[in-house]
Amino acid sequence: MLRSNNCGELRINDLDSQVRLCGWVHHIRDLGKLLFIDLRDRYGTTQIYFDANNKPELYQRAKQLGREYVIQVVGTVRERSNKNPKMPTGDIEIDVEELIVLNSSQIPPFTIEDDTDGSEEMRLQYRYLDLRRNVMRETLIFRHKLNLSIRNFLSEKDFLEIETPFLIKSTPEGARDFIVPSRLNPGNFYALPQSPQLLKQLLMFAGMDRYFQIVRCFRDEDFRADRQPEFTQLDCEMSFVKQEDILNLFENMMRNLFKKLLDIDLPTFPRLTYKEAMETYGSDKPDLRFDMPIINLSDKLKGNGFKIFDEAEYVGGLLLANQPSVSRKHIDKLTEWVKSPQIGGSGLAYIRYVDGEIKSSISQFFTNELLQDVMASLNASTNDILFIISGDKAKSLKILGDLRLYLAKEYNLIQKNIFKPLWVIDFPMFEWDEENKRFTSSHHPFTSPLDEDIDLLDTNPSIARSNAYDMVMNGAELGGGSIRIHDKNLQKKIFKLLNLTDQEADDKFGFFLKALDYGAPPHGGIAFGIDRIVAVMLGLNSIRDVIAFPKNNMGKDLMMQAPAPVSDEQLKELHIKVQ
Ligand code: AMO
Repeated sequence: MLRSNNCGELRINDLDSQVRLCGWVHHIRDLGKLLFIDLRDRYGTTQIYFDANNKPELYQRAKQLGREYVIQVVGTVRERSNKNPKMPTGDIEIDVEELIVLNSSQIPPFTIEDDTDGSEEMRLQYRYLDLRRNVMRETLIFRHKLNLSIRNFLSEKDFLEIETPFLIKSTPEGARDFIVPSRLNPGNFYALPQSPQLLKQLLMFAGMDRYFQIVRCFRDEDFRADRQPEFTQLDCEMSFVKQEDILNLFENMMRNLFKKLLDIDLPTFPRLTYKEAMETYGSDKPDLRFDMPIINLSDKLKGNGFKIFDEAEYVGGLLLANQPSVSRKHIDKLTEWVKSPQIGGSGLAYIRYVDGEIKSSISQFFTNELLQDVMASLNASTNDILFIISGDKAKSLKILGDLRLYLAKEYNLIQKNIFKPLWVIDFPMFEWDEENKRFTSSHHPFTSPLDEDIDLLDTNPSIARSNAYDMVMNGAELGGGSIRIHDKNLQKKIFKLLNLTDQEADDKFGFFLKALDYGAPPHGGIAFGIDRIVAVMLGLNSIRDVIAFPKNNMGKDLMMQAPAPVSDEQLKELHIKVQ
């Protein structure tokens, strides 16, 4: 070994031992006759020093070192006169006797500090330097521990980790596929899995009973802070279970992970139906770290002669409590935001209590008593503001949901370091795609309807609910799954409702339909986004910060410069022409 110890482990009881350390030059402080270096590796930082009085030649050589040089030193552990209680190694330092430069380094383009001066673009371009920063390293270590804990938890519960192929036929999850041309089969393509959905179901048909996999998934979709074109799922499937079994097991798993990794006791996860989530929070992934539910004001405000409300399908509001400093300017800014194309609202009304008096943007259309009455019914007090949106119900709820999050951010309503998990259940089976005039699956086409809604598939599929569920935490969808269809006729019926002809269903999923003929057990499962779990647990905003080598928001790897053109020769071999 090039070293006797790492840079994080020497303590006061190692005094006077001779040690050999390797690492990167982190900080250099030259005090004239004494030169101090913080030597860093994965395990920590140790202070080493070069004394010009005792070893002038060595001191001169140390002066030539630069930031991020890789060095090996031999020296003796000494007690520090100026101890640093913040560092685990802060009681000691190394009096260096030998120095070997293992490699030099150019000056890094940004500082290797938690609070770096590097832009995200720079950090992605020089990711190997970015990953030298403590925060990045700690995140990857945390991620490793999470994966390990998951594997241990599920193995103890009889799950088998089984690998499934990457070169497959499309498994639809609602995004576009990344495709891979086949050299040996001209004109034919593999699809990279958007998830191992069908394969894990086939593993249940194969009798594996309980499966999991920590697996990369690929989706060619638009970017957001919580999305990557390749991301990691914890993918799970179980046979002979009902929804309740799955919710209990994975709620337990999550509680176990929080306890083990963060020493946090999560509460029992509340369950909201999709309908309740939409009507109360305007979102199917509500952030419960703050209150402020949506209030249905239709009964109170419709039918009083104000045309805009009277003609609206729905009137709803949010009560922002105790905000004395909200000015007219603030409210104008909020109104502009509601009307922006991204939100698509037509306006924002408000009723406000100031010193016992009502101030309102709609005061000329309503009696003062009525507005007083509305505020009193909400137990509103001085400095509370009721914001009101009206219009189409689904759209208004969505706007109120967005507004709820916007207000929380703007007025700092979200406490730090708290975790509010929940399950959202009873999702609709289908969503209506207005552009293509057809149904799409809300979850995916292999999700079963609720038993009590099966008849609706024939009469009114748009209101049929499914056996699908999402685990949500702090406003992020951490995972989602469903009880699957294991009956061939029902599966074919769902394909039909999704506008697939028998021929198309057979072309795409013939192998799967055939498998349903050979004793497919009742089964169900769930998949979690590992990247999102890590980000939520560590309170990070972007999953890019929990992935060693992520893509930027244009799907590019800035370090490797991928994607990139390929040679004509390679294209020819693959029977591909680029237009
Ligand atoms: P779903 O599509 O909901 O379900 O995905 C499961 C979880 O994967 C994460 N996720 C993503 N994370 C980062 N970037 C992305 N582009 C991305 N897309 C999804 C989310 C999400 O909750 N086969 C089904 C699961 C099942 O039914 O068992 C599926 O893939 O955290």
